[in-house]
Amino acid sequence: MSSYFSADLKKIIEGYLVRFETPRSGILPILHAIQDEKDWISPEDITALEKEFKLSIVDVEEVLSFYSMYRTSPPKPFRLEVCNSISCWLMGSHKTIEHIQKKLEENPEMPFSCKEVECLGYCGYAPVALVNKDRHSHVTPEKALELIQQYTQNTKDKG
Ligand code: FES
Repeated sequence: MSSYFSADLKKIIEGYLVRFETPRSGILPILHAIQDEKDWISPEDITALEKEFKLSIVDVEEVLSFYSMYRTSPPKPFRLEVCNSISCWLMGSHKTIEHIQKKLEENPEMPFSCKEVECLGYCGYAPVALVNKDRHSHVTPEKALELIQQYTQNTKDKG
């Protein structure tokens, strides 16, 4: 039977399902694998997981709504993820998040999304943020705006 998923992804999913005692236990790594390949997890992915691998839609949706690291809509090219745990919060990360989210709401054409995340493990450089997988330190509202301009400009220069 042909699969909705790519051959590689199907193999990964099957691998997780045999590794864990219950299929439900494999949901987190399976969703990571889907997101790694496709950038986000669509409603079609969720339906296919149930059809092909008997993973309950309710269980999958519970995991998706609980963990903020999963994307359930197509991502913008750049994702600004600002740590808002205690060290970063004390250094003003909440101001960066508020400022940038407002800016992005006013300018929906900007190729960025912004969300708060938990500790990124670089507390001595607070506030810390990631742009996709690049780490940046001391991300004030002004620095976050500069980063947005730099990444946007680099894309224009390349393209
Ligand atoms: S609290 Fe922000 S990186 Fe640890």
